[in-house]
Amino acid sequence: MTRMMHVLPVEAYTSQAWFEREQAQIFSRTWRYAGFMEDIAEPGDTLVVQAGLNNIFIVKGRDHRLRAFHNICRHRGTQLIRAVGQAQKALTCPYHDWTYDLEGNLIAVPDEAEAFPGLDKSCLGLKPAAVDLWRGMIFVHPDPNAGSIMDWLGALEPHLGPHRVEALVEYPEAATTYEIKANWKIVVENYIDVYHLSHLHAGTLSMYDHAKAKYGFIGPHYAFWEPLTADYLADIDKHAALPLILPHDQLGAWVPMLFPGLGLSESETDWSIFHITPLGPERSRVETRTRVKNVSSWEFQKQEWRSAAFWSKKITSKYSAEQANAEQDPMVSADFSAEDVYVCEQQQKSLHSPYFEVGASAQQSESPVREHQQIVLDYLEGRR
Ligand code: FES
Ligand SMILES: [Fe+2]
Repeated sequence: MTRMMHVLPVEAYTSQAWFEREQAQIFSRTWRYAGFMEDIAEPGDTLVVQAGLNNIFIVKGRDHRLRAFHNICRHRGTQLIRAVGQAQKALTCPYHDWTYDLEGNLIAVPDEAEAFPGLDKSCLGLKPAAVDLWRGMIFVHPDPNAGSIMDWLGALEPHLGPHRVEALVEYPEAATTYEIKANWKIVVENYIDVYHLSHLHAGTLSMYDHAKAKYGFIGPHYAFWEPLTADYLADIDKHAALPLILPHDQLGAWVPMLFPGLGLSESETDWSIFHITPLGPERSRVETRTRVKNVSSWEFQKQEWRSAAFWSKKITSKYSAEQANAEQDPMVSADFSAEDVYVCEQQQKSLHSPYFEVGASAQQSESPVREHQQIVLDYLEGRR
């Protein structure tokens, strides 16, 4: 009997050279999540993101349209926009004050007549990138001719939850940003590993019927769905800590992973993102944000005491396994995120041991892990 094995070598998870290839071949060539639509509400608001090798900013124009540009001044290349900015009338480079309008046109150059005789400002507008909206989120792509986000995700759409995302509101207290001391692929592999659900999370995700999960890849994207257990479903109104956001005949969890590194967690009560950004070969940042039912503030407060335990569990996920002490032991934390962070960091550490090897890989329930590795390899070797 042959043993299923991993596709990628150890250095894919530890080497700087491999990390840089991924930045160029994957993260510079795919759509990147940039934020929620409400993050950039007024004309002149800006938002900066790093997409692989490209620093890109998004600006809302006076016409209320979003535009994305490479964050590089056309004079000598200084980064134009520093971080999140609000309601600016124009965009001025900090170095020599070259100034652009919100549509990216160069409109003012200090000492223009003496210093740059005959300068054609119309050729020196900011270089555009692509920007698009999908399910309440903003995405950017370094290539202005990248097409649409729907082209990129299209075939996945029917395999996502029926949630009406725009009708949900963000629950800001549930937002977290934390660093995991592990390669971004370890974090993705953990997200799409079906095998661990009933083991690592035996105590935390037992409301779902993992044996009935349906999953697989559609293009480079991963789709996953599982129903609630019959017992949990029978008493759903008692169990659910938050108001339901799906009709009774559609309850369950959709947990897709959009390539490369945007996990969604679409459940019967909340809709969250899990955005993974590689920071280095062995460091990743995870940002989570959550939407819930839009209920009146009175009703919200009434819900809050019931859900306090639920959210406090989510919030403890900002502790990495290293910081955990006796009271914060991730394995007794009742928090599935802390359990995941713990195993990712421990697995990353083992990669440095000469004794490390993958012994076998489950035929079905670990097949997403191997398939994701193959997709990464295909990008790096030019097959995608
Ligand atoms: S580099 Fe921007 S004005 Fe000189
Ligand atoms: Fe997990």
